[in-house]
Amino acid sequence: MRPILIAGNWKMNLSRQQAIGLVEELLLQVDHFEAEVAICPPYVYLDTISQKIGHTSLALGGQDVYFENAGAFTGEISCEMLADLGCQYVILGHSERRHILGETNAIVNKKAFAALEKGLKPIVCVGETLKQREENQTTDIVLEQLYGSLAGITEKQAEQIVIAYEPVWAIGTGKVASPEQAEEVHATIRQTLATKFGKVTAQNIQILYGGSVKPENSKELIEQENIDGALVGGASLKAETFLGILDRLQ
Ligand code: 13P
Repeated sequence: MRPILIAGNWKMNLSRQQAIGLVEELLLQVDHFEAEVAICPPYVYLDTISQKIGHTSLALGGQDVYFENAGAFTGEISCEMLADLGCQYVILGHSERRHILGETNAIVNKKAFAALEKGLKPIVCVGETLKQREENQTTDIVLEQLYGSLAGITEKQAEQIVIAYEPVWAIGTGKVASPEQAEEVHATIRQTLATKFGKVTAQNIQILYGGSVKPENSKELIEQENIDGALVGGASLKAETFLGILDRLQ
């Protein structure tokens, strides 16, 4: 059985005080749930939040990272820095980075290698736009992103990777993919992972769904055979809704 992972992607939101308040609220309840729980705050809050989290079960992740170890890369953050702050996860290739900041599969691939080398678990995001779905390109796009982002990754490394399927049209729009729509893509992703890394490894890789996940829809999505949790944006910014998602899974 794959453990359920619920990860909150705070994106570029919350003041420092709000961020601290949210973590304090989460910490009061996070141990009550069976699922693995992670939060990915903006970089600038990681240190403070890491200290709050201490050795509790709440896991910490970065929203992105750079692939070089150190040097003249103004504005960038290395995997070592994230690991040093206690991060276990790092989101890679989020659609906002792909579409707004021009991140390519090749860049995501380099970041995945760099993260794995420093012991961070990459959460590799894939997903089609509305236009691509309407033109029946969903599978092609998702698999192109998957193959490109995971190029050269070994079976052993794949065991440390989490995949997130986030249809771009469902992100921040309130339009959630139906459980059947999501499961169809998740099953295709798992089949592809089985071809690439073998059936056993593919069965152990967590594939999260992301896109307008909230308490009201989390259970029916995560009940699907190949959906192993959620990458949550908006609903992760309030303890009530983030914990509500976890609560519905009990
Ligand atoms: P929303 O939950 O706000 O749709 O965002 C999803 C997302 O992009 C998580 O990475």
